[in-house]
Amino acid sequence: VSKRIVQGVTRETPISIAVNDRDICAYPGESVATALLAAGITGFSRDRRGRSRGPFCNMGVCYDCLVLIEYGLEHRAEPARVRACLTRVQAGMRVRIPE
Ligand code: FES
Repeated sequence: VSKRIVQGVTRETPISIAVNDRDICAYPGESVATALLAAGITGFSRDRRGRSRGPFCNMGVCYDCLVLIEYGLEHRAEPARVRACLTRVQAGMRVRIPE
């Protein structure tokens, strides 16, 4: 079940991104954090003690939303750890998070 607002909202055609090899639905213009949260994924990374971390500020300040983008970053050919709240989804993007 999607956690997105559905009433009174018009969206473009959905795209698919892979999170740990599982495909989830996203919409163009969404952040990776939004797509993950809408799919029910709240643990994006781990702290030094191994505790699960997820978005806190949702505006690029706390770095609690770090994810590894293996493929699909604009202007970057190599995998990179980025803030999910500031990174827009791309069709075919591959995201890796701790399981
Ligand atoms: S949620 Fe704080 S930097 Fe992304």
